[in-house]
Amino acid sequence: MSLLFFLLLSLQLCLSSAQNDTVSCPLDFSVLRRLVQGSKRPNRDVKTECRYVQQGLRLVQSEYLRVTGRFLPPLDSAESCWDSYQTLVDDFVPNFDIRTTCGFETDWIAEGCMNITTREEFEGKVLSSALNNVAAACNDSLGNGSPCASCTTSLSSLHATYLTGGSVGNLSDCTAYTLIYAAAVVNQFGPTDAGTAYCLFNFEFSSSSNSKNKQRTIVICVVVVVVFGVVLFLGFCGLWFFRRKRREFWKKRRFDGRGTSLSFEIESINQSTSLVRYTFDDIRQATKNFSRENIVGRGGYGNVFKGVLPDGSEVALKRFKNCSVSGDATFAHEVEVIASVRHVNLVALRGYCTATTPYEGHQRIIVCDLMRNGSLHDHLFGMRERKLSWPIRQKIALGTARGLAYLHYGAQPGIIHRDIKASNILLDEKFEPKVADFGLAKFTPEGMTHLTTRVAGTMGYVAPEYALYGQLTERSDVYSFGVVFLELLSGKKALMAVSEGQPSLVTEWAWSLVRKGRALDVIEDGMPDLGPPEVVEKYVLAAVLCSHPELYARPTMDQVVKILDMDLPVPSIPERPIPLIADIDDIERSMSSSGSGNLSTPRGYQPYSGC
Ligand SMILES: *[C@@H]1O[C@H](CO)[C@@H](O)[C@H](O)[C@H]1NC(C)=O
Ligand SMILES: *[C@@H]1O[C@H](CO)[C@@H](O)[C@H](O)[C@H]1NC(C)=O
Ligand SMILES: *[C@@H]1O[C@H](CO)[C@@H](O)[C@H](O)[C@H]1NC(C)=O
Ligand SMILES: *[C@@H]1O[C@H](CO)[C@@H](O)[C@H](O)[C@H]1NC(C)=O
Repeated sequence: MSLLFFLLLSLQLCLSSAQNDTVSCPLDFSVLRRLVQGSKRPNRDVKTECRYVQQGLRLVQSEYLRVTGRFLPPLDSAESCWDSYQTLVDDFVPNFDIRTTCGFETDWIAEGCMNITTREEFEGKVLSSALNNVAAACNDSLGNGSPCASCTTSLSSLHATYLTGGSVGNLSDCTAYTLIYAAAVVNQFGPTDAGTAYCLFNFEFSSSSNSKNKQRTIVICVVVVVVFGVVLFLGFCGLWFFRRKRREFWKKRRFDGRGTSLSFEIESINQSTSLVRYTFDDIRQATKNFSRENIVGRGGYGNVFKGVLPDGSEVALKRFKNCSVSGDATFAHEVEVIASVRHVNLVALRGYCTATTPYEGHQRIIVCDLMRNGSLHDHLFGMRERKLSWPIRQKIALGTARGLAYLHYGAQPGIIHRDIKASNILLDEKFEPKVADFGLAKFTPEGMTHLTTRVAGTMGYVAPEYALYGQLTERSDVYSFGVVFLELLSGKKALMAVSEGQPSLVTEWAWSLVRKGRALDVIEDGMPDLGPPEVVEKYVLAAVLCSHPELYARPTMDQVVKILDMDLPVPSIPERPIPLIADIDDIERSMSSSGSGNLSTPRGYQPYSGC
């Protein structure tokens, strides 16, 4: 009897072990092992290690997709896949159980975004034109910053547009899917290329000399140092020479530009087909003859009207002031350029109108989609009863960052917005943010310098280097974005209440709290549905970093998207060099000398007189 029992038991054991063997893991972890083997392994804290493990898995999944056309291994192989991965990790990090340490559930390795498992299913969810954009942006070597930025920007917009369903677990969510897909299918070098892995998986591996012979190591070190020194010296010489050359080149270019640009513009209007050209009568009807009731905004360039087109759609119309006939060609060309820039987080341009009428003179109008929910400014500082909830604020921050990243790196040519502020972030009925007024800085009437137009309503948003020296780069937009971001988190205006005659900047205030380790105190009181503290803190730190007074401390917009959307941590925030308040005084002084009295900031404090 007991013998029979024993026989049965061993039979069962045999069967079950045989069963386990049949569902072996199809993922090939040896790919990862080869990459990691030669590289240095810095000590990481648990959180970073988990992220690294997660990114490594995505790389392996990407290789799996490249070879088999499938994103995920079958569900019944989940256990054995974890075992394979654990074996690999054990060889590099002792006593690190992946699942218990990082909180991953067993099934998650075989589940992901919107139940998509194959390449065909993925491509079926996405328009082919969007895939073409990704193919154009992600097929190069991604080791450098700029190609990497355009690739991740295009992927982030793919995610935001088409992959909005839920995902199971946090191992391979929809963001991860776009990265896995790009590395496997689009990029010609594949997921195991160092540049691709670094750009798409934040996965770093570097070969290091594993020499046991100490003397040889020292010799190598000395040689490397000497060679490095020589290269550095030559590099500096080269750079100096190159800069001189470049300066000469640009000087020449500036002269050449004048001659050729006009013919180019005329050519491009003739070809313009994508935009609707409205007649002045259309516009007059839509706005009830520019009725005052229809005015929904006023800007440096003119008024904004609400209107209804004959097909019943509601639009916003911007009417520029002080126009003359002579600039129409340039205007039409610029409008074409702006209209070609399309993204879910940018306000779409529908058409334009240029006309000369006997009574109103020369007219230029552009027609955009109307946003039902008004601007972020209305919601933060207007008379709204309900405060925006945390999830909505997260959505607004991320969407705005995506839109700006697309302007900087996705559009051809790249566009610097120059006037990002809460009233330029519009919200649609689902509170998806749309950046408005990009590219319009060019249309400010002649005679108004950048300085005066900026000052009109945007004190507190302008990056110090731009305000002081007119130095304009993408990172001036990042600063303005950082200020809006802080307004969004704190519910306080860019220029906060005046204390002792000095207006205080929200950026300074937030930094002073962060420095005392009180980042969470930045958050507006009573915000509904506040998220977990580590996420909230990450957002505050990201906002403070974006609004850093030093240009090079700020991240780029695509890094911001990565920080908010993916697992990239916030870099440490460098100390601020000078109190920014001195800069305000400088701005004030340069403004008053430029003759504009139209200030929205209170006066009455002593001008800064030191240097
Ligand atoms: C086989 O898998 C079952 C669970 O499905 C597990 O309980 C058992 O221990 C496994 N056997 C072996 C030999 O790995
Ligand atoms: C994944 O989610 C689990 C549970 O939701 C959590 O404990 C873990 O920290 C998350 N891991 C990562 C890397 O986000
Ligand atoms: C995935 O499929 C399951 C059933 O097959 C379904 O219950 C679930 O809602 C689906 N999830 C998504 C995000 O489509
Ligand atoms: C990427 O470029 C390679 C080489 O130029 C080409 O063969 C391949 O078809 C391209 N892939 C895509 C998806 O465009």
